[in-house]
Amino acid sequence: MSLDVPLLRSSFELVLEREPALTARFYEILFERYPQARPLFARNARKQQEEMLARALAAVVDRLEDAPWLVETLGAMGAKHVDYGVTEEMYGWVGDALLRTLAEVAGDAWTPELEAAWAAAYGAIRDLMLAGASRAQAAE
Ligand code: HEM
Repeated sequence: MSLDVPLLRSSFELVLEREPALTARFYEILFERYPQARPLFARNARKQQEEMLARALAAVVDRLEDAPWLVETLGAMGAKHVDYGVTEEMYGWVGDALLRTLAEVAGDAWTPELEAAWAAAYGAIRDLMLAGASRAQAAE
């Protein structure tokens, strides 16, 4: 995976400084643009979901150079997401909402280079989650 790790880390820090409630804003944008996703998120309170996603994103940003960890953790997460009713198409919704959130919060600091770096990172995360989902389904 050839990701611009320093750029991803520094921009993630910047957006969290500008908006500590980053994932709250993410869910607002996700549900505004993709209201059809709302009924999936019924298990946990919104606040809890925001915290779980924030922790997961921070962990991934911390481990971007740890390929075995990414394969294992994101693979397992992708398998769990199948049980939540998440389909491949929905990864597009989440990627769009995530990039829009980052761009909005980064404001004047957002550049085409950052857009490309985050699109590549999200694409890699999605691929690892989908690979885990397929492995779990094949093993059933
Ligand atoms: C970058 C990709 C994603 C990350 C890092 C992520 C992270 C998480 C985390 C940490 C959880 C908490 C439970 C667990 O650990 O399994 C979760 C639950 C969930 N995620 Fe994701 N997710 C991603 C993509 C998606 C996508 C594409 C969808 C589809 C809309 C989705 C829908 C859900 C749902 C429905 C739940 C269960 C919510 C509930 O318990 O009420 N996620 N996700």
